[in-house]
Amino acid sequence: MQVRVTKTQTPGVMPKEKELGFGKVFTDHMLIVDWNEQIGWHDARIEPFGRISLHPASTVLHYGAEIFEGLKVYRRKDGGIQMFRPMENVKRMNRSAERMSLPQMPEKDMLNLIKKFVKLEERWVPKSFGTSLYLRPFMFGNDEALGVHAVKNATFMLIASPSGSYYAEGINPVSIMIESEDVRTVRGGTGYAKCGGNYAASTRAGERAAKKGYSQVLWLDGVERKYIEEVGAMNVMFKIDGEIVTPMLTGSILPGITRMSCIEALKSMGYKVSERLLSVDELLEALEWGKLEEAWGCGTAAVVSPIGKFAYGNKEYTVGEGKIGKVTKKLYDLLTGIQWGKKEDTFGWVYPIK
Ligand code: PLP
Ligand code: COI
Repeated sequence: MQVRVTKTQTPGVMPKEKELGFGKVFTDHMLIVDWNEQIGWHDARIEPFGRISLHPASTVLHYGAEIFEGLKVYRRKDGGIQMFRPMENVKRMNRSAERMSLPQMPEKDMLNLIKKFVKLEERWVPKSFGTSLYLRPFMFGNDEALGVHAVKNATFMLIASPSGSYYAEGINPVSIMIESEDVRTVRGGTGYAKCGGNYAASTRAGERAAKKGYSQVLWLDGVERKYIEEVGAMNVMFKIDGEIVTPMLTGSILPGITRMSCIEALKSMGYKVSERLLSVDELLEALEWGKLEEAWGCGTAAVVSPIGKFAYGNKEYTVGEGKIGKVTKKLYDLLTGIQWGKKEDTFGWVYPIK
């Protein structure tokens, strides 16, 4: 796909790396590609970053036709830059599009567009370990009419934000509240898709947990309110009595790329990993009997995030000794080592940008 590039006349200033938060500063440009039913994808362009204009009846504003992805560009010690399994994000974007009746884009085209954009914005990839350039591809339905149907017009965009280290103050285990009221999604719903609505619907529980002093909630399934699904906006893993368990992908869980990588990494280290249903009762029993040795969340933003405590009703339970566990630490070191190019990538996960 040809891309028209209009460079900014007013390049921005990269903040000090220590002052980078998450998703607050944006690079100089943005990528836009239009789609319509008659001619498909067209008019790919990179323009100076700025506001966009939408018709007030635009589908996304009324019926939530929106999907997104999140991936990072990492700077290695040798100064080069690389991504981590970007094709998996491209594939998931298309699966999300299919679920939400939005158009899919040929995988190679999407990856090439991302690569082209990253090359143009390379100076915005920070240098310190733990920092990265966070890429946010997204797509929205853009019909200028209020009828409810699969859209005939859509827009794909890519913006990027230099982001700080998630663990600027060191890895500290977080406290998690088991959520028994709200559910994130249901089987048959949109859980496996990365659509904006899933996040809007999960914010209330997150805010309630935060008010009580917890970092995030542990989501239970929406049908029986029994089986563990995810933690906040991350997948979740446990080490129970020697077995590593992660909820199986039932349709309401987002198939995380970090999750998939953790499973492969753990297997390569010789651990047995079970992807199965795990009930909250089984978790509570393991906690009561001191059999829950480790628990952690995993996702692109935090990579691996140890869980030190769970709360259910008025009761609090400590995981292991409340510190980062051995397996959690090994996984964190391996994944971040590969992502930032400190460790050899024996899995073929990194995607260098030349
Ligand atoms: N689950 C949810 C709901 C998410 O938003 C994310 C983050 O993107 C993940 C899991 C982890 O996915 P990934 O490892 O691909 O970032
Ligand atoms: C993740 O990368 O783990 C996330 O959950 C991203 C979030 C900002 C949607």
